[in-house]
Amino acid sequence: LTIRHLEATDYLRVTAVVDDWWGGRPMRALLPRLFFEHFRATSFVIEADGELRAFLIGFRSQTDASVAYIHFVGVHPQHRAAGIGRRLYLHFFNVVQASGCNEVHCITSPANKGSIAYHQRLGFELQPGDGVVGGVPVTLHHGGEDQHRVLFRKLLR
Ligand SMILES: CC(C)(COP(=O)(O)OP(=O)(O)OC[C@H]1O[C@@H](n2cnc3c(N)ncnc32)[C@H](O)[C@@H]1OP(=O)(O)O)[C@@H](O)C(=O)NCCC(=O)NCCS
Repeated sequence: LTIRHLEATDYLRVTAVVDDWWGGRPMRALLPRLFFEHFRATSFVIEADGELRAFLIGFRSQTDASVAYIHFVGVHPQHRAAGIGRRLYLHFFNVVQASGCNEVHCITSPANKGSIAYHQRLGFELQPGDGVVGGVPVTLHHGGEDQHRVLFRKLLR
């Protein structure tokens, strides 16, 4: 499986599958076209047999050049637990580290237990927040009223 950069021409095919890949949650609005147009250097796709297998959308913080942020990662439901998510993350870590970043941040919903387990396996620390949901520390109202989020951070070495 080869990794290539995300392109603006991937917009329709990626956004067509995200709700399904997230178990029916409406995610499409969180992926406007601008991510496909302006974050190419730090966003990646894995394909096989012409089929989309996985994608990662990330970027370097414009506020703190030592920080990189992963906005979205998704793996085709029939190809999970095969190391594809890890492969994309390690690739992203290498790319942003080479440009001077030494930490990576991301967030997830406290309901997304698979994402929490995955990020912990990849070495992310759960950031202390100001609440707890389902036994997990969260930052309350982070994404709007009652939209609590788990915040992750990983230091790159
Ligand atoms: C989360 C996701 C990207 C993981 O991708 P993946 O390719 O299945 O993950 P990998 O096979 O690389 O797994 C890496 C490690 O995380 C663990 N892991 C991955 N998903 C897990 C889950 N649902 N529950 C428990 N552990 C999990 C794996 O067991 C593996 O651990 P190991 O060190 O023992 O090998 C994928 O499940 C997905 O696309 N989910 C829906 C979208 C989503 O929620 N994205 C994250 C929020 S933006």
